[in-house]
Amino acid sequence: MFPTHRPRRLRRTPALRRLVAETTLEPRHLVLPMFVADGISAPYEISSMPGVYQHTLDSLRVAATEAVAAGVGGLMLFGVPKAEDKDPQGSGASDPDGILNVGLRALADELGDSTVIMADTCLDEFTDHGHCGVLAPSGAVDNDATLIRYIEMALAQADSGAHLLGPSGMMDGQVAAIRGALDASGYTEVGQLAYAAKYASAFYGPFREAVGSSLEGDRRTYQQDAANRRESMREVDLDIAEGADMVMVKPAMSYLDILRETADRSPVPVAAYQISGEYSMITAAAQNGWIDRDAAILESLTSIRRAGADVVLTYWAAEVAGWL
Ligand code: PBG
Repeated sequence: MFPTHRPRRLRRTPALRRLVAETTLEPRHLVLPMFVADGISAPYEISSMPGVYQHTLDSLRVAATEAVAAGVGGLMLFGVPKAEDKDPQGSGASDPDGILNVGLRALADELGDSTVIMADTCLDEFTDHGHCGVLAPSGAVDNDATLIRYIEMALAQADSGAHLLGPSGMMDGQVAAIRGALDASGYTEVGQLAYAAKYASAFYGPFREAVGSSLEGDRRTYQQDAANRRESMREVDLDIAEGADMVMVKPAMSYLDILRETADRSPVPVAAYQISGEYSMITAAAQNGWIDRDAAILESLTSIRRAGADVVLTYWAAEVAGWL
């Protein structure tokens, strides 16, 4: 009649719950994605991501220094060029004077090896058509021609001081192509945090404003279909075989099953990216008074860690690091 087994015993006090908590969340687990924009004179708040800014070079240095002081594990930098500087090849991505490379040098100058500086290695912010690669005459994204551009971009980022490159365009063979080029150019110590399992997601919506994307259409010929699980394991295995130093699953919250499976099989550290839409949904619900903002943030990050992420990219990285 009365239960013998009582799991509630270990939930009775905060001290008991703290003693038996399985999952930890520490500042070093959190990576802050940051945006640096060309041609702005003051930080610009992204309207669909309240609290997230496109930075000037000066405000980037300040915000990055504050995030590192709060204890974050690293920074992931995205560049936002001026609209008139975009072209079909995304030339600004590999131009040493392109905003992303200039921003990387600013971070390297400001922070050196005191944090891990990561760069988004993808063309979409720099192409006038907004795709992650260059287009064939048919209008399709040309995989192998894109790899040549990724190599040029990767070398420029390595030269600008990035510790880890984040190829995020989902082209076949991108990790091997970049690894080969880095090694041949003497950048053997520059690593790759490969976006291994990246899904075509509606939750990237706010990011498109964040980077002033010119994309019309979608990325379904290169990003993955939400219906598929095995395909992600193939992508993860390929990226590791091609030399990825870390692998990433993205988005996070709708793909926690993929994250768990990746963490179970991966011999390299696993990251997950809590993307723009995940940030904006929690922010909007909290602004309406519908959820407890801080509790929802901590629960979401704990869930991503529990699902197997060693590292979580989140726009709340600096704030949450300050709480922990
Ligand atoms: C591609 C890239 C995207 C994001 C990170 N890298 C956009 C996309 O694939 O459409 C999305 C990040 C976010 O939504 O927070 N360079």
